Amino acid sequence: MTSAAPATHSPQADTAEWWRQAVVYQIYPRSFADANGDGLGDIAGVTSRVDYLDRLSINAVWLSPFYPSELADGGYDVADYRDVDPRLGTLEDFDTMVSTLHARDIKVVVDIVPNHSSDQHAWFQAALAAGPGSPERERYIFREGKGPDGAEPPTDWIAAFGGPAWTRVPDGQWYLHHFAPEQPDFNWDHPEVREDFLTTLRFWSDRGVDGFRIDVAHMLTKDLTEPLPSKDELALIPQDGNHPTLDRDDVHDIYAEWRAVFNEYDPPRTAVAEAWVDRSRVPLYARPESLGQSFNFDLLLADFDAGQFREVVTDNLELAARSGSSSTWVLSNHDVVRHPTRYGLPRPERLENGRPAERHGQAWLRSGGTEALDRRGGRRRGNAATLFLLGLPGSAYLYQGEELGLHEVAEIEPGRRQDPTFFRTEGEEIGRDGCRVPLPWRAEGASLGFGNGHAAPHLPQPAWMAAEAVERQEVDPASTLSLYRRALALRAQWQTGEELEWLETGREDVLRFRRPNGWQVVTNFSGEPYPLEGETIALSSAGPTASDGVVAPESTVWIAPPDDQGA
Ligand code: GLC
Repeated sequence: MTSAAPATHSPQADTAEWWRQAVVYQIYPRSFADANGDGLGDIAGVTSRVDYLDRLSINAVWLSPFYPSELADGGYDVADYRDVDPRLGTLEDFDTMVSTLHARDIKVVVDIVPNHSSDQHAWFQAALAAGPGSPERERYIFREGKGPDGAEPPTDWIAAFGGPAWTRVPDGQWYLHHFAPEQPDFNWDHPEVREDFLTTLRFWSDRGVDGFRIDVAHMLTKDLTEPLPSKDELALIPQDGNHPTLDRDDVHDIYAEWRAVFNEYDPPRTAVAEAWVDRSRVPLYARPESLGQSFNFDLLLADFDAGQFREVVTDNLELAARSGSSSTWVLSNHDVVRHPTRYGLPRPERLENGRPAERHGQAWLRSGGTEALDRRGGRRRGNAATLFLLGLPGSAYLYQGEELGLHEVAEIEPGRRQDPTFFRTEGEEIGRDGCRVPLPWRAEGASLGFGNGHAAPHLPQPAWMAAEAVERQEVDPASTLSLYRRALALRAQWQTGEELEWLETGREDVLRFRRPNGWQVVTNFSGEPYPLEGETIALSSAGPTASDGVVAPESTVWIAPPDDQGA
């Protein structure tokens, strides 16, 4: 087996193009590390774990929102775009974090949430106070209601978290919110809204931030010309750039302005779009004139299946090439059931019509985790999928805790849940708290090393998490953490041009590809071993003791580039 050399950098790591093949590690700050022991993770907590981040050989961290927020949606309800939530620290703490990470060559990406603010934002409060017809209301989307006394909402539209998309204020007007009622949508036709986000982008760029992740990037602009369509009519309107609320062509006028701001800096600031749009329209966001990169969630939506994985990779490399960007690969993030759990659920729960259900694992979550979950199998398949992903050209987005092979936490009592999805669907959708539980750093102690034990963690950690603690895994060569560290260190050396070539395996359930420098990745999706032809295995997701010469069932192996054989 090859021993992992100290981390170096992928080919473009030190250039303006660093993002093209970067490994970006997503931090959900309130659940990463709690330096002041109040039960909520904080900015100083991130800084305190810089050695840990460094040892992962990542190129960047992306921080989910850490701004002042009432936490109606885990921080995606921003009350002030240019400050740090006082419970998470100060701007000085933020600056210290940036300089500490930069000193280790780790870039910093922050989340921008432009579709909506918090209802606690000064502008929304001013809009409420100023009343109907005021200029203050123009920055959001207020309308009169329908029916007698305007007591019915302007339309029957449904919000993303369930319930109506309009909420009435005491003076009788209604405002639009595509998410929770505490997240009023901005009016992007308003010049002050546009200008203010440019100020925000410059504010963080001036503080040394290297890039931005743009929340629901496809929803900002809207054509709300009366009469407004009903929910059913809206669903029938093609999403071809002229839909009233989704993926409109004119959203790119905004991103052209943002691009001009990004290019004021050296190196230019980067951005990645969270845009849930038709695949043919992804390149519009990923173009260099627009945001420059866009998430592809296809791997996250695929089952652990050779045919689906191959199709996803081929399609997305082609799309990336068309856009002039690089592809992005994601298996887990703060919005979905963790991938070892998805792959460990019984098939009917996992799949609908052969494809994973859009909201994976809800029935299992509703059972409180008591229904069958193949924990070992799920993790085995999860690690195989991760090693496949890390071998691909393009950038890899990892989510905190996946390097520990963590499963989703199902056993959270209703009274401790936070996700608005849970409340607004009356528990029908359990929501996303289970992937946002604070990380276990130590095997003992009140919050397993997340904080100093003075306050309980803001979401409860189940007893089984102790066995997955960082301190246990880092001394175990067969742990998922050891696998991630070795894989990421090797990737940092081997990552190469943005192509791959599929190789014949003679089996439908085995995928094999080669990168331009000869690095090979073989994934066996089946339950039977797959024999190699004498190649030496440099790394196997089946662990350090996996037998040479075969790819174990449900595992991925890496074969070193020829100039690194025996390294
Ligand atoms: C994005 C975020 C999600 C949030 C939503 C509304 O999808 O990833 O966490 O709830 O936008 O801001």
